[in-house]
Amino acid sequence: MSSLEELKLELKNLGREYAKIKTLPEAERKSFGEKINSRKAAILAAIREQEELAESADIKPIDLTAPFGENAKPFKTASGTKHPLATELAHVADIYRQMGFSVIEARQLDDEFHMFDSLNFPKEHPARDGYDTFRTSEGFIPPAHTSTMQYRALTRFRDHLDKYGQIAVVVPGRVFRNEDVDATHEHTFYQCEGVFVSKDATLGQMLATWKNFFETYYGQKLNIKTQPGFFPFTEPSLEFQIEKPKALGGKGDGWLEMGGCGMIHPNVLKTAGIDPNIYKGFAWGGGIDRLVMLKYGINDVRYFESGKLEFLKEF
Ligand code: DAH
Repeated sequence: MSSLEELKLELKNLGREYAKIKTLPEAERKSFGEKINSRKAAILAAIREQEELAESADIKPIDLTAPFGENAKPFKTASGTKHPLATELAHVADIYRQMGFSVIEARQLDDEFHMFDSLNFPKEHPARDGYDTFRTSEGFIPPAHTSTMQYRALTRFRDHLDKYGQIAVVVPGRVFRNEDVDATHEHTFYQCEGVFVSKDATLGQMLATWKNFFETYYGQKLNIKTQPGFFPFTEPSLEFQIEKPKALGGKGDGWLEMGGCGMIHPNVLKTAGIDPNIYKGFAWGGGIDRLVMLKYGINDVRYFESGKLEFLKEF
């Protein structure tokens, strides 16, 4: 086969042949013209074929079996990073696992029963409005707190009471509230719920459990403080504060509000099929975003849900 250069040269020379037509006797002109026309078409076709071949030769076959050869140029890829909340939620779950708790995940869509009824919120009680819940048009509720999982945790692990004498579960999850968003409030955030039931569970154990969690998370001993609170699903109910950890600039004088806790209300146990005359329980729940913001000095909660790469790449 002629090379591309040869073909192009021949095409150029053929141009000159056309000039000859005029010099030929009338009778020969037509067949001569036809001859060079068909030769020209053949050369053009050959050129196209050669060019196509050259083009496809540029596409190098990929050898999937040998990415690290001497001359191999591996494709550049950007590796992603874990979302800081994912990392911290895993860390939180690990701490509780080491303390003997099972970990189950919360739902992102729930219902009236789990959000309110099973938690001893009286029907039509104003406390139901206190949670600024979203609702779907079908009446489902994106959970406004991880306490929606208490009933599920209690019923699912009820047999542990006979088997092990206790239920010990924590439930990290994503929660949603229909409230105005600013640097410290998000409509979507994370909480972790804890539930413990045994024949002799006490409020002292409750406080020690949560205190121990925070001390492990921040890697130092911490003072704690409580004050009376109100939640329909606990009696008594407490709000729980920790001393601002040294690592976060604390000097033993600042307090951080970490969430709510208390002894599980007998009605909540009863609804879950556990006899409150035999068993007692404690429960606690608090935000995760805040914990992570404090740990890393993040000053705007909205970064978490923003999908901003500049933010995410820092972790
Ligand atoms: N669910 C409550 C909230 O989001 C926090 C809470 C309070 C959880 C008391 C509990 C509890 O488990 O016992 O405001």
